[in-house]
Amino acid sequence: MKLYGRRSMAGGCLAILAGLVALAAPAQAQNYPTRSITMIVPFAAGGPTDVIARIVTGHMAQTLGQAIIIENVVGAGGTTATTRASKAANDGYTLITGHMGTHAASVPLYPKLAYHPEKDFEPVGLLAGTPILILARKDFAPKDLKEFITYVKANETKINAAHAGVGSVSNVSCELLNSVLGVKPVGVPFNGTGPAMNALVAGQVDYMCDQIVNAVPQINGGTIKAYAIATAERNPSLPDVPTTTEAGLPAFQAQAWNAIFAPKGTPAPIVAKLNEAIVKALDDETVKKRLLELGSVIPGPKDRTPEALAALVKSEIAKWTPVLKPAG
Ligand code: MLT
Repeated sequence: MKLYGRRSMAGGCLAILAGLVALAAPAQAQNYPTRSITMIVPFAAGGPTDVIARIVTGHMAQTLGQAIIIENVVGAGGTTATTRASKAANDGYTLITGHMGTHAASVPLYPKLAYHPEKDFEPVGLLAGTPILILARKDFAPKDLKEFITYVKANETKINAAHAGVGSVSNVSCELLNSVLGVKPVGVPFNGTGPAMNALVAGQVDYMCDQIVNAVPQINGGTIKAYAIATAERNPSLPDVPTTTEAGLPAFQAQAWNAIFAPKGTPAPIVAKLNEAIVKALDDETVKKRLLELGSVIPGPKDRTPEALAALVKSEIAKWTPVLKPAG
C-alpha cells in the first residue's frame, strides 16, 4: 500500500512535470531566440556553402536579434558535419546549411550514412541555387570545351580533378561529367572547394566542376579559366561563359542548391521564425545584390517554404539515387 502510495505520488509529480514542460515549450518557441545560434557549415571557410551561409545569416541575425555563429566542420564530403547536426538538440540553437550533396547525393553514395536527410531533419528554407561550371587552371592546355573534351579523353590517366570529398557537389557533378565523357581521371579531395579553388589557382590541380559562387571572382580576376556553365542559359554574372549546350556538350546539365535544415523535432514555431528570417534576407536589396553578383539563383516565393524544401530534398534523392548507385 505504502509503496503504491509512493509510486502514485511519484507518478503525480511526473505528470505535473510533463505538464510544465508542455506549457514551457510554446513559450520557449515564442521567445526564441534568446541566445546566439550555431550554424554548422559542412565545408571549409571561403567555399560556396560558407559564402552563401554567411551572406544570408548575416541578415537573419538582424531579424532574429541574436548572433548566428558559423562553425565550419569538415570531412567526408560534408557528411561528418551533417551527422553531427542530425544529433544536435532540436531547440533551434544548432542548424546546418546543407546542400544537394549532404541532403541528397549522400544517400546513394554512403550505404552506412548515419542520418537520413528526410527523417532526421526539419527543412527550414532554400537559400540559393548554384549553377555548376567546368573550370580549369589558367594554363591548362585546352582553349575551349571542345578541346577540353578531346584532351581529357586522350590524357585521362595523367590529369586530375579537384573536389570537396565523396558526395560533395563538386565530386558528384564531375562524376556526371566523367560519365558523359566516358573517362575516369584521378580525383583529388579537399575539405571544401574553398581550398580546392586555391589549389586550382596555384596550378596544383588541373580542373574542377564547381558552384558558381566560388568561381565568379576567380574567373573575373583571370586566375582560372571557365569552359562552360552547365545550365540552359548563360549567367548574367558571367556573360562571356558559354552554356554547355552552346559549347557542344548539351548532355552535361547541373545546378546545385544550398539550404538551412534543423534537427528533426525542432518546434514548428521556431522553424517558421527561421523561415521568415530567410525570406526577409532574400528580399533584402544588399543580400540580393551580393548573391546575384556571385551568380546565385535566388529562389522565388513558392520555393522558399519549408514544404517546398522538403519536396526538393525528396525529388533530388529520387533523381540522384539511380545515377549514383551504379557508380558506387
Ligand atoms: C563547399 O562549400 O566547399 C562546397 O559546397 C563543396 C562541394 O560540395 O563541392
